Amino acid sequence: MLKVINVVGARPNFMKVAPIVAAMKERPARFRPLVVHTGQHYDAAMSDSFFRDLDLPQPDTHLGVGSGSHAAQTAAVMERFEPVVLREKPDWVLVVGDVNSTIACALVCVKLGIKVAHVEAGLRSRDRTMPEEINRLLTDQIADLLFTPSPDADQNLLAEGIPAERIRFVGNVMIDSLQKNLDVARTLPTKEQLGLTSIDYALLTLHRPSNVDLRESLERILDALEAVAAKLPIIFPVHPRTRKTISELELSERVISIKNLRIIEPLGYLDFLNLSAGARLVLTDSGGIQEETTALGIPCLTLRENTERPITVEMGTNVVVGTDTEKIISAASAALNGSAKKALCQPPLWDGHTSERILDALDEFAVIQKSR
Ligand code: UD1
Repeated sequence: MLKVINVVGARPNFMKVAPIVAAMKERPARFRPLVVHTGQHYDAAMSDSFFRDLDLPQPDTHLGVGSGSHAAQTAAVMERFEPVVLREKPDWVLVVGDVNSTIACALVCVKLGIKVAHVEAGLRSRDRTMPEEINRLLTDQIADLLFTPSPDADQNLLAEGIPAERIRFVGNVMIDSLQKNLDVARTLPTKEQLGLTSIDYALLTLHRPSNVDLRESLERILDALEAVAAKLPIIFPVHPRTRKTISELELSERVISIKNLRIIEPLGYLDFLNLSAGARLVLTDSGGIQEETTALGIPCLTLRENTERPITVEMGTNVVVGTDTEKIISAASAALNGSAKKALCQPPLWDGHTSERILDALDEFAVIQKSR
């Protein structure tokens, strides 16, 4: 029996951990999953609704860390997670993605000699100004087992000197959640409630510090959005960080003045999936949404200068356009007049069975260790 602490902290973690915990519950003779929520995200819309939508069991432990500077948040997670690990003595701690909770919990475990598995390992934007890139690099250096979503991630890890026996290419676990929930999401009245049933619309998300914390970049993006919104409504579920900086930068009136830019509260997993699956176009600076749009075959414009998910560009529907106003406008026009990128096919192992492969690998690793 393997006791596994599954760590969740921020919004993009929930859809990665939910299918893994569900798969563990289907193998009760072999796995005993616990869920620890660090509390990095704490709003109902950023956290609670995801437990409901994804059928994720309520956390066994909630660390209640909340917001803070990177150092304060990371340190608070470490301080509060350490006693949980000492009390529970898990066989494995499983961390996902690239948020502050990911590196914080991995670092606690490696110092205590507890084995850590990192899901979504090996992705690299090569942009060290992104806090997530630092979290990725460090987590991958210290984790015992690295589960990669795409072959480029394996190459990145090998190039950083990580031994091949620590790397397992298992595919994209977010697609497990997407496949499991898409049919239900499509039946929801999300579009009707927004009056979108018979019209084309675009869907927008923005939260990267490099886009929303700086006046110049935010203004460049808003100028582009104004031009795109002249062609079709843009639905914009606003991240709390973005809402805050729009107000601090005194850009609220500018945002409200853009006709056809419809600002709504952050959506739950299923409502967001309903809207993304039906959109003509998605504009985003998120990592996960680049992958979901590729899986759905929906054109995606990534409003960043780089991506850690190049397979979504090579095989999927993603175009990395940056934040130049004219580039965004012309890429959006191309997408809307039908000359957008089409998906070549689904990336390998984005098949809805990644969580099973993760469990198989944990099992196999335990057997190898025992025989040593
Ligand atoms: C974090 C992750 C990012 C991920 C994003 C998804 C890091 C370094 N960043 O960024 O990789 O893409 O989550 O959303 O871990 N806030 C609330 N309520 C909440 C959460 C946040 O109001 O439930 C506000 C607070 O003002 C907070 C700010 O948002 O200070 C930023 O939150 P934080 O968790 O620090 O980073 P995110 O920008 O959400």
